[in-house]
Amino acid sequence: MRIDIVTIFPELFAPFRETSLLGEACRRGRVELEAHDLREYTTDRHRTVDDEPYGGGPGMVMKPEPLVAAIEALAGEKGEGRRARVLLMDPQGARFDQRKAETLAAQPHLVLVCGRYEGVDQRVIDLAVDEEISIGDYVLAGGESAALVVVEAVTRLLPGVVGNPESPVTESFQPTRSFRGGLLEGPQYTRPARFRDLEVPEVLRSGHHAEIERWRHEQAFARTEQRRPDLLKGRTGDTKP
Ligand code: ADE
Repeated sequence: MRIDIVTIFPELFAPFRETSLLGEACRRGRVELEAHDLREYTTDRHRTVDDEPYGGGPGMVMKPEPLVAAIEALAGEKGEGRRARVLLMDPQGARFDQRKAETLAAQPHLVLVCGRYEGVDQRVIDLAVDEEISIGDYVLAGGESAALVVVEAVTRLLPGVVGNPESPVTESFQPTRSFRGGLLEGPQYTRPARFRDLEVPEVLRSGHHAEIERWRHEQAFARTEQRRPDLLKGRTGDTKP
């Protein structure tokens, strides 16, 4: 998968490209990640990327010319022939979740556009963006950290990254860790079996796989019911364990 990022802070992405699982995926050529400086696409002496909003109001708006030039240079023009998917990081966007991560992981090429200031000129969205994505109902100073969230959630699903099978058969393609079929994960333990008087539940040490699976499902369900009842709404065939 190729991922291009458009930002006025390309240096923010360098450590992520070099570290941990994403670093390994980049070194092994599973992921090509490149951050592009938006100012390279300006044409004026001051390399201006923002301007005052029409109609007045606080803050600045990102100008359309450099953003559209950058996006079209990296992704081509919006429309049928475009193979890349262009995503604008934007608190007004559709909420990013695991399902969206899975959809994006099937794309060959993503271009993530990081907004700053009060937002981007609407014509950038109309002319060049395929989708607006929000990582949650809060406002960040810019889209860079949101883009990193998307990059991490998507790339860990790719074959050959984080111990996923090299060549997944689509139906059996299971990410190494994700929600248990839409539920939160229950508690996890590792050694020692006893730590400061707290014991690892007996069932996990029993070696009885069916029992362990049943216990994990119960725990996942109970935790989801308690913490995120919204995830249980609209599910069919859910039996309370
Ligand atoms: N830019 C600013 N806030 C954001 C958010 N919550 N999600 C995505 N991009 C953003």
